[in-house]
Amino acid sequence: MTADEDGYFGEEIAATYDESSAERFRPEEVAPAVDVLAGLAGDGGALEFGVGTGRIALPLSGRGVPVHGIDMSRAMVARLRTKPGGDAVAVTVGDFATTRVPGTFGVAYLVFNTINNLTTQDAQVDCFRNAAEHLAPGGCFVVEVGVPALRRLPPGQSAVPFGIGPAQWAFDTYDVVTQAMSSNYVTIADGRAEHRSIPFRYVWPSELDLMARLAGLRLRDRWENWKGDPFTAESDQHVSVWEKPAR
Ligand SMILES: C[S@@+](CC[C@H](N)C(=O)[O-])C[C@H]1O[C@@H](n2cnc3c(N)ncnc32)[C@H](O)[C@@H]1O
Repeated sequence: MTADEDGYFGEEIAATYDESSAERFRPEEVAPAVDVLAGLAGDGGALEFGVGTGRIALPLSGRGVPVHGIDMSRAMVARLRTKPGGDAVAVTVGDFATTRVPGTFGVAYLVFNTINNLTTQDAQVDCFRNAAEHLAPGGCFVVEVGVPALRRLPPGQSAVPFGIGPAQWAFDTYDVVTQAMSSNYVTIADGRAEHRSIPFRYVWPSELDLMARLAGLRLRDRWENWKGDPFTAESDQHVSVWEKPAR
């Protein structure tokens, strides 16, 4: 699979995104995230980087928080538009590392590992700078992302399987020099194999803190999840909140 003008979220992926991510659409997943983001938005509104089909933006908007989304995939945004309340979310099509939208916000957020879709350190740094420039003084940037799973990678090995069955082999690859990774799906049908590969860049919590600092933001909270459980050595993901100093 290759990227087109919709990135890696073209028509084919967009058509089945909500079903294939059904776990993430469960109310018990969505509600705590919306609670946190609504609290941080205050009266200032929210900006979502990689708004997609509106999994978080729509319920947040439904809570009365004005939401603006940025996404490069017209196919994903078209799905958001057809949903109830979809016309209440403003959307700008573009790259969230660099695209500016009018106004400032109480919170900007980037969930579901989407910071990893930026495949260079420069682009991830740009993303933090872009978030910071959209924040009102005292506003926050929130990122939800997995902790790099390098403890699953034995020395000398560069791939970790995460789903091996008769019809599909799924595995991640890691380049521990460049922090490039990819998720790969080999699907077998009628004796033929089709390979789909999506590139990512994994990033450490401490590295994100440095990116935040470069953008003039300071870590305010880091939890294991949206319920605020403590982040520990065993946490496999984190929700991090960086704050722009109040004037
Ligand atoms: C995993 S989906 C997440 C969608 C939504 N935030 C959610 O939680 O369901 C990632 C989204 O980010 C978008 N995306 C990825 N890289 C992007 C970039 N550099 N600029 C803008 N959008 C991007 C994709 O098009 C896709 O809609």
